[in-house]
Amino acid sequence: MPDQQPIPETVILGAGGMLATIWAETAGPALRHPQLGPVAFLTAADCDITKPGDLARAIAQGVRLVINCAAYTAVDQAESEESRATEINGAAVGRIAARCREVGATLVHYSTDYVFDGSASVPYRVDAPRNPVGAYGRSKAAGEELLERSGADFLNLRTAWLYAHCGANFVRTIAKAARERPTLRVVNDQGGRPTSCATLVDITLRLLAANARGTLHACNSGECTWFDLASAIVERVNAASGGSCAVEPCASSEYPRPARRPAYSVLDLGPTEAVIGPITPWRDALRPVLDRILTPQPSNA
Ligand SMILES: NC(=O)c1ccc[n+]([C@@H]2O[C@H](COP(=O)([O-])OP(=O)(O)OC[C@H]3O[C@@H](n4cnc5c(N)ncnc54)[C@H](OP(=O)(O)O)[C@@H]3O)[C@@H](O)[C@H]2O)c1
Repeated sequence: MPDQQPIPETVILGAGGMLATIWAETAGPALRHPQLGPVAFLTAADCDITKPGDLARAIAQGVRLVINCAAYTAVDQAESEESRATEINGAAVGRIAARCREVGATLVHYSTDYVFDGSASVPYRVDAPRNPVGAYGRSKAAGEELLERSGADFLNLRTAWLYAHCGANFVRTIAKAARERPTLRVVNDQGGRPTSCATLVDITLRLLAANARGTLHACNSGECTWFDLASAIVERVNAASGGSCAVEPCASSEYPRPARRPAYSVLDLGPTEAVIGPITPWRDALRPVLDRILTPQPSNA
């Protein structure tokens, strides 16, 4: 961070990532938000969250809110790099929380449905026991535990199946494949709640405005399988392009991957909706993002 900058009220870590990009759009070109005040967006090059010196500089006295969008998110790669994943998603979260406590800042952190094992058949309650089945989930669970023990003022939002018009995500991958291939086979035995980054930012702001704290779930409402989600995307792509791509359901066992995924990772939204009211259903949130993906703009990097 350059030395002569005024102290921001809000610091967003991991500014190069997908969710942080949507936060940047929300803050606007002046990097000032009515609820957040002046916002500093710090990439991994500006602030490596595994480096205590970087955190001390980035989270200075006067900062009142830190939004941690930084994470190790390569789910399959984490299986062979668990210590790196745990350093970023676990230990570093503990250090961010400790620094927030020192300066009296509130920490917003994002966690994941992958902290659960996916063996349930009803939505996971906020207080359900963590039992991750893979290295990424274990690293995020470690971060949650350190956050809870830190004594910091925090809001930990577990989200799932995140997408936006930018970044590497399922919605963009399927939208591209649908324009290139006649048939797509997509797994139909994993259920969850696809979540638009725009909805997640909106939920975060509304929870902060209501002074919500602790751990809550933050997803679009409704539930579906990856096959259902792919079908909704392809239907829209076909309609826009005059294409005829078909989607076929298949089983996860047909596509073995290094990391096991939870079969059922629907997060209970009850406590969140009790604070902010009904959350947008996933199909409604998907529509504007698909519109944007299908109408390429210079910013769709
Ligand atoms: N994507 C999903 O489907 C999903 C689902 C559930 C929960 N989440 C959670 O939602 C949050 C946002 O995810 P996202 O999809 O926006 O992730 P993302 O696009 O992968 O962005 C993560 C950012 O963190 C940065 N980062 C990595 N290591 C860092 C370090 N040591 N110091 C500072 N920055 C570092 C990365 O920078 P480099 O690219 O330069 O490494 C990247 O810009 C994460 O907490 C994630 O676990 C995501």
